[in-house]
Amino acid sequence: MKVLAINGSPHENGSTNAALSIMKQELIKEEIDVNVFHIGTAPIRGCIGCRSCADTKKCIYNDDKVNEAINLLSDIDGLIIASPVHFSGISGGMKCFLDRLFFAAGGRVLEYKAAASFVVLRRSGGSAALDQLNHYLMYSKMVLASSHYWNILHGTNAQEIYKDEEGVQIIKQAARNLAWLMKSIENSKIDYPQTDERVRTNFIR
Ligand SMILES: Cc1cc2nc3c(=O)[nH]c(=O)nc-3n(C[C@H](O)[C@H](O)[C@H](O)COP(=O)(O)O)c2cc1C
Repeated sequence: MKVLAINGSPHENGSTNAALSIMKQELIKEEIDVNVFHIGTAPIRGCIGCRSCADTKKCIYNDDKVNEAINLLSDIDGLIIASPVHFSGISGGMKCFLDRLFFAAGGRVLEYKAAASFVVLRRSGGSAALDQLNHYLMYSKMVLASSHYWNILHGTNAQEIYKDEEGVQIIKQAARNLAWLMKSIENSKIDYPQTDERVRTNFIR
């Protein structure tokens, strides 16, 4: 089984990556492959709302790594999205990246796949940022792996996060829960729920 783990930090080897490594170790114990995908530090365009992805399922822009990530989604069983907290939200690059990825591919390619999210931060704003990440997963009918607390880990850099022993335990549990969920979905004999045509009730009449 495969997990794609998106690192939304500008630091390829920062706190977010260290936390992903902790989760990766737990997933490897469950014989799950983990592909850590760094969004990079090159500029990432925001979504321009052109809606061409509704037909193509790809973004019209190919000058960053969004389509590269979209191409990986059909082959995965689980997804992790992780970001440092920037001004009580996710990083700007990650926001642009996820807006375009989920707008283009958030529909059928991800539905009923397992997912987990977490944020790392120095001090405060974690809940708001974690909430922001979960919006993408919940929009896409993904099945969320939880833990025994919010998936928020404290530390300013890759070394410091290990001092947050409670946070480390929380994300380890999230990884184990993700593995369990992926295997449960794969081995389930129950059909996916009925899905009706989507109703779009805009709030302007
Ligand atoms: C632009 C910017 C804004 C930040 N805003 C916050 C914040 O609102 N709350 C907080 O606790 N930490 C904040 N931080 C600290 C980072 O979240 C923290 O250092 C994190 O561990 C960095 O993770 P990384 O190494 O994966 O990039 C901010 C850092 C930067 C660069």
